[in-house]
Amino acid sequence: MPRCLGPGDAAAFRALRLEALRLHPEVFAADFAEEAGRPLDWFAERLASNEVWAAVAPDGTLLGMAGLICHAAAKLRHKAVLWGVYVRAEARGTGLGAALVGAVLAAARGKVEEVRLTVTVGNEAAIRLYEGFGFRVYGWEERALRVAGRDYDDVLMALRLG
Ligand SMILES: CC(C)(COP(=O)(O)OP(=O)(O)OC[C@H]1O[C@@H](n2cnc3c(N)ncnc32)[C@H](O)[C@@H]1OP(=O)(O)O)[C@@H](O)C(=O)NCCC(=O)NCCS
Repeated sequence: MPRCLGPGDAAAFRALRLEALRLHPEVFAADFAEEAGRPLDWFAERLASNEVWAAVAPDGTLLGMAGLICHAAAKLRHKAVLWGVYVRAEARGTGLGAALVGAVLAAARGKVEEVRLTVTVGNEAAIRLYEGFGFRVYGWEERALRVAGRDYDDVLMALRLG
């Protein structure tokens, strides 16, 4: 059962997030080296300004996460962004990714009308996960990321919450 992290979870969140960025540089826009250089307070602030949901093992270890950021600006307030979806390799294929996305969408309902996300072209596991919730492709960004000299395109996906 995912739970929403608070600023007091900053150290565990930092460890999980840095693992995700280190192991999957081509699927996240954030850069491992840049984020690894941030102080713990920066991670605590992200937990305060975003809703980050995590799957937690019985021993307290974080197994996966998914984040939601709602826009504050008046003209953008109708939509939010799902970001940072990650499940540790040993915990994949057991429904945690779906549970995390489901928790974020439940939190978004009533706050925003639409949730958007970007996913690297070719990341079929993630694209199928999002399609399973009804996300549809609305755009394509060429050369969205440059990682170690190689360019990657992003697919833009959106879900109307109705
Ligand atoms: C994408 C990711 C979060 C999926 O997490 P997971 O816990 O394994 O996913 P679940 O077990 O909840 O699976 C949910 C659905 O996702 C899809 N899916 C998951 N793994 C898949 C795979 N290897 N191939 C195809 N579809 C897959 C399926 O539609 C699945 O539904 P099903 O079991 O009914 O077929 C995980 O593989 C991951 O962390 N990958 C690395 C980071 C990443 O790519 N993050 C997304 C950034 S946009």
